[in-house]
Amino acid sequence: MKCVKVPLKQTNDTRIKLMENGLMNMEYRIKTDSEYGYIPINEDIDDYNIVDIDLEPMKKVPHNFAELLDGELTNEEIENLRTSFDTIGDIVILEIPDELLDKKQLIGDAAFKFTKRKAIYMKKSAIKGTTRVRDLEFLSGTDDSVTIHKEHGARLKLDVREVYFSPRLATERKRVMESVKNGENIIDMFCGIGPFPIVIARNKNVNITAVDINESAIKYLDENIRLNKLKGSIKTYCGDVREVSESFKTKFDRIIMNLPGLAYTFLDVSFNLIEDGGIINYYEFSDSYETGIKRLTDAADNAGKEIEIINTRKVKSTSPGEWHVAIDAKVTKK
Ligand SMILES: C[S@@+](CC[C@H](N)C(=O)[O-])C[C@H]1O[C@@H](n2cnc3c(N)ncnc32)[C@H](O)[C@@H]1O
Repeated sequence: MKCVKVPLKQTNDTRIKLMENGLMNMEYRIKTDSEYGYIPINEDIDDYNIVDIDLEPMKKVPHNFAELLDGELTNEEIENLRTSFDTIGDIVILEIPDELLDKKQLIGDAAFKFTKRKAIYMKKSAIKGTTRVRDLEFLSGTDDSVTIHKEHGARLKLDVREVYFSPRLATERKRVMESVKNGENIIDMFCGIGPFPIVIARNKNVNITAVDINESAIKYLDENIRLNKLKGSIKTYCGDVREVSESFKTKFDRIIMNLPGLAYTFLDVSFNLIEDGGIINYYEFSDSYETGIKRLTDAADNAGKEIEIINTRKVKSTSPGEWHVAIDAKVTKK
């Protein structure tokens, strides 16, 4: 390989000059010894000491997902795929549209090279069933679906094949955590692997009761309690919250109800469990807040209570015109 040989101290200045003039060969690494630097070049250059030595080729690192799929997919297809990436710990989950399914392996391999994560899976079904889990198909990397996801300093261990988890709710969890006051007695009725309880208890000195019907979710939450340094305490229960909560002796200052498709069917349970002046963090899928507010108002009425809506927001878009909405309601006796 042809190189410019310069005294060691001049290596960097010479490198910059050669690069600026488009003379440096960027496919090889610069070599140095105790006295000289050797800078790879594309052609002979006057005024320099040119030598021929072996240099190590640069590792070709793909910088761009698009570069890896160039010629296979249109720019729009690549952009759509890119926005479908969900990164959970060292796992990437992709949504591949039907018309690109015949290229799924190519896309999976490109995603693996681009993200350098452990495993690439693609969504095989919608989120479904009581446990809100979706089918996944392994595409590239190592087929190991257990990972540790980091969120706001919390370590959340989970198996993406066995439990529900969405990294897209991180901002919402932080928002709820920030509204919690030390000393609150909280129940997360549909806790999953415990992202709300863990993020809250890492930051606030509170007592949290966490319930989920999915055994695997509670197994990981128990592990997550051990993995994180908590200021508050978390007690876990596995089962249907409607049945499990029958044995609870206390009322709660805050109830988190993140089961957006069905939370409204559990409002009778939460209005029974809420402390006077307590807050319900209620979620549902909707195109507006009206339905949710009406459901909360009706449930309050049935329980002889009333609500004040203290906040509403769109957490994330679920489909065109539909949102995962959050409604915070303060509950008081009539
Ligand atoms: C949408 S996930 C939310 C999990 C968690 N809150 C989060 O943000 O990642 C809803 C959870 O509710 C649980 N679930 C569904 N029905 C339930 C019930 N009747 N009692 C307790 N948990 C239930 C599911 O297993 C699932 O983990």
